[in-house]
Amino acid sequence: VSDRFMTVAKVGEIPEGGVKVVRVDDDPVAVFHVGGQYYALADLCTHDGGELSDGTLDGYVIECERHGARFDIRTGAVLAMPATAAVPRHAVRVIGDQIQLACETCDEREAAAAAAKAAQPAASAPAAPPPYTDSPGGQSSVRRAFESPAATEPAATAAAAPVSGTSAPSLQEFAVRAALETVMDPEIQLSVVDLGLIREVVIEPERTLIRMLLTTPFCPYAPQLTQDVKEAAMSVVPQPCEVEIMPDAWSPEMMPDPGLLGFST
Ligand code: FES
Repeated sequence: VSDRFMTVAKVGEIPEGGVKVVRVDDDPVAVFHVGGQYYALADLCTHDGGELSDGTLDGYVIECERHGARFDIRTGAVLAMPATAAVPRHAVRVIGDQIQLACETCDEREAAAAAAKAAQPAASAPAAPPPYTDSPGGQSSVRRAFESPAATEPAATAAAAPVSGTSAPSLQEFAVRAALETVMDPEIQLSVVDLGLIREVVIEPERTLIRMLLTTPFCPYAPQLTQDVKEAAMSVVPQPCEVEIMPDAWSPEMMPDPGLLGFST
């Protein structure tokens, strides 16, 4: 798995409650901005290929305008038929004022950009288009930003960022998520990651914050589970870790692969 990131937008460019379509690894990706956070999903409804960025965004729920399937933008999970498969999600991070997405082909893009630059040393960068515009026709409640040439530029700052230290929070986040794959729910014998219980990992300067769900509201294993989660996080990011249990109800659709529980569709 690549841990290379590319800048796709700048903070402030996607309005709260808005979306911008960018290209990552040549695929369209919808980057949503909700509740001060950014979330990225493939811009492709798993029902029949509708563009999710054209849909209606209500809180964390995007409704495909074609036949009404609904997805959680935080996880890609299906919330309403006719879609039955989750939409692929992309890792997002914010470095300074740059919104970046994980990218599998950053190296090739970087090489191509460098080659293009070498061939045209005097060429000036193209002017950026307006940062966003309301979607034409007013059919969508989502304010949509157009793709910008900047979206295809590799993130020089991210590429130069050291692997350790405070300047690379997402690597720490990945490390925490990887460590959490070893924390098993004692009842179901699947990891908290496979169960989709880990909703958010926030690496702050002084602490790690993990927001998670429980499979049942009064899970008798909750204290042990939160302790295991804390220890796993602290084993890779040595700073205090707080686990916040979210009141939301868990459901198997939140799993990255519901088939693990026999919920395949
Ligand atoms: S294409 Fe999205 S609901 Fe049918």
